[in-house]
Amino acid sequence: MSAASLSLSAQPVLEVNDLRKHFAVAGGGPGRAAGLLRAVDGVSFSLARGETLSLVGESGCGKSTVAKTILRLLAPTSGQVVLAGRRIDDLTLSRLRPLRRRIQMVFQDPFSSLNPRMPVRDSIAEPIRNFRLARGRSDLEARLLRLMDRVGLPADALGRYPHEFSGGQRQRIGIARALAAEPDVIVCDEAVSALDVSVKAQIVNLLMDLQKDHGIALLFISHDLAVVEHMTHHVAVMYLGRIVETGSREALFETPRHPYTRALLSAVPVPEPAANRARIVLKGDVPSPIAPPAGCSFHTRCPSCIERCRTEEPPLTALPGGGAVACHLAGAEGAAHA
Ligand SMILES: Nc1ncnc2c1ncn2[C@@H]1O[C@H](COP(=O)(O)OP(=O)(O)OP(=O)(O)O)[C@@H](O)[C@H]1O
Ligand SMILES: [Mg+2]
Repeated sequence: MSAASLSLSAQPVLEVNDLRKHFAVAGGGPGRAAGLLRAVDGVSFSLARGETLSLVGESGCGKSTVAKTILRLLAPTSGQVVLAGRRIDDLTLSRLRPLRRRIQMVFQDPFSSLNPRMPVRDSIAEPIRNFRLARGRSDLEARLLRLMDRVGLPADALGRYPHEFSGGQRQRIGIARALAAEPDVIVCDEAVSALDVSVKAQIVNLLMDLQKDHGIALLFISHDLAVVEHMTHHVAVMYLGRIVETGSREALFETPRHPYTRALLSAVPVPEPAANRARIVLKGDVPSPIAPPAGCSFHTRCPSCIERCRTEEPPLTALPGGGAVACHLAGAEGAAHA
């Protein structure tokens, strides 16, 4: 399915079309054959300015690999990445460099983007210098102060070192560094997952404010569906390197179509216990992406599996009201509604 037919809104700032990332893996002892690990296997989506798309799914389904491949921290095996109308997946790294400003990343552990031996000032000034955004020293200084203010840190934080801050404050510094580049898109890979509940809420609110004020598009990677429900516009659910369902927040949380989405949602606690969804416990583990099951890759764990699911792969099919689902049963249901 093309990105166009999966398009979630009118003016995409980021389009990903049939993206694949396969890793060649060596055999690791008995029972572990050498082969091709299909970490990302045909992922398409688009993201509009000022909107959030959340990528969700169990550990190992390929979320971080999608992010790293878009940012070219990993070379894609195939597929297209289009940023603000320009294809970037086939650019050389030197041609890509000026466009890198437009897409920034915030990681789970800000230590991975902040140099522990550098004062915060230098970490945040780095993208401003690299992309030549400041007109002289006083403009640089003014930018640094504005960024501190924007992310809710005192000006004197600039002179301190990453280890002097709490996890939440460090994440604010990571966000300031991303923001310093004046990006169109920020990719957040489990950016709030390691934080306490109240700090998590503050950082999520900060991201939402920044999005509103600057029109930034967020690709929000998380396995915390409660956070996703609070802040996203659209959701894409991944299983074994593929998107199995997409939809608006409302559609996906209120009427999930894919049995995998239903199972994920059933595990999310809601404030009133009476309203909890009946818990669907999936049998078994996620199969290896080196040898994914034939047919529907979810069929080995699916509570609704029928014979057809074992042999025939369900295509990601657009739903009449928007969104898409890859399930033989949900597809039939969708057609009945059309
Ligand atoms: N460099 C690599 N070489 C080989 N396999 C890799 C590499 N990076 C990731 N993988 C594999 O690709 C698959 C997807 O990994 P990925 O890190 O993208 O998952 P994820 O959805 O981000 O998981 P998590 O929620 O745990 O962060 C996994 O099977 C992983 O073991
Ligand atoms: Mg990950």
